Amino acid sequence: MNFDLTEEQELLQKTAREFGEEHLAPGVIERDDKGEMPKEQIKMMAELGFLGMMIPEEWNGAGMDAVSYVLAMEEISRADASAGVIMSVNNSLVCQIFMDWGNDFQREKYLKKLALGEWLGAFSLSEPQSGSDASNMRTHAEKDGDDYVLNGTKNWVTNGISSDVVIIFAVTTKGIGYKGVSAFIVEKGLPGFSIGKKEDKLGIRGSDTCELYFDECKVPAENLIGKEGDGFRIAMKTLNGGRIGIASQALGIAQASLDKSIEYAKERKQFGKPIGSFGAIQSKLANMAINVEASRLLILKAAKLKDEHKPYAKEAAMAKQFASQTAVDASRECVQIYGGYGYMQEYGVERLMRDAKITQIYEGTSEIQELVIARAIMEGK
Ligand code: CAA
Repeated sequence: MNFDLTEEQELLQKTAREFGEEHLAPGVIERDDKGEMPKEQIKMMAELGFLGMMIPEEWNGAGMDAVSYVLAMEEISRADASAGVIMSVNNSLVCQIFMDWGNDFQREKYLKKLALGEWLGAFSLSEPQSGSDASNMRTHAEKDGDDYVLNGTKNWVTNGISSDVVIIFAVTTKGIGYKGVSAFIVEKGLPGFSIGKKEDKLGIRGSDTCELYFDECKVPAENLIGKEGDGFRIAMKTLNGGRIGIASQALGIAQASLDKSIEYAKERKQFGKPIGSFGAIQSKLANMAINVEASRLLILKAAKLKDEHKPYAKEAAMAKQFASQTAVDASRECVQIYGGYGYMQEYGVERLMRDAKITQIYEGTSEIQELVIARAIMEGK
């Protein structure tokens, strides 16, 4: 497989890097502290086309490929992983659903605004009793004339507060497991749809997460995505792409940890020498670099397979499992290299350690990625 980037991909990578360094890195500690992402940052990402990257231009997207998307995701997350997840959810979980499963009416009404970044989207699958066991959901939708009536509770919804529209998964036929799940487009402001409090989180504090409540909420039947019963397959196939995005977010955090570690290892002196001249520190830097590079190759492989319309579920799971472990390890080692300073907020490395952890949890835990990989290899895929 050829991993050379095209001129356009290199330019895009440079643009995303410069944008991250100039507009996201300054203020990242404050945003993390306050737990907010000002609209200004989202607007700038939208203007660069970063909110609908893989959507064709006719639907207001940037018309780029998955490789470009992972390059941009890495750079954005390297500067601010909260901005990274906002971007990832809108691109790979929301816009992509409209592109792959929506009809032209739904694309015209919703995708055009979402791909431009005029609107922000959220994807809501999990519930209090169903995280990894995603099809075990209780939220249900009953057909009533030209509407579906939704009842239930969803949780851990990224962009849940700031989004304008949410993709909701609900049971339309009980007792038949995942085959009874359907997907709906739900606009904010519908009667019976309310939003829970903003969750106080360990990391990615600049992105909002909340519960969503449906109490006799009428959703027009035209907002059903695909057919009744398609919902679980829609969720799973979409999450394969999402997992490449989260792997790239993890890679951005790991690369930031490595960058900061190299910088500090050269500058910090102990025993009369830069700490980077000691074998113990060199070993940490070398291992970080190996794992960062391996993560990048796994991610590029999955993205290239996606671009070539070949199966990539196993490769996406491998990329996410490995890159998220790399982010957790590299950020922890980065704090260790900084020592006492690393533990202090103002050095900006303890945030990396807090941000890294979620990449092993959302869009399928590492254990679920391993299950996906093991099932695939046992089936000879
Ligand atoms: N790709 C495509 N199809 C898949 C798939 C995948 N990765 N995984 C499962 N499927 C399909 C199966 O082929 C099957 O469909 P068919 O009958 O048509 O073949 C159907 O889905 C059911 O699959 P299983 O029988 O394997 O279902 P299961 O219940 O045993 O296991 C699971 C499924 C893999 C554990 C799944 O529940 C899963 O991935 N869980 C993790 C959920 C998750 O990732 N949640 C993330 C929440 S969203 C989020 O985090 C967003 C955010 O905020 C950032």
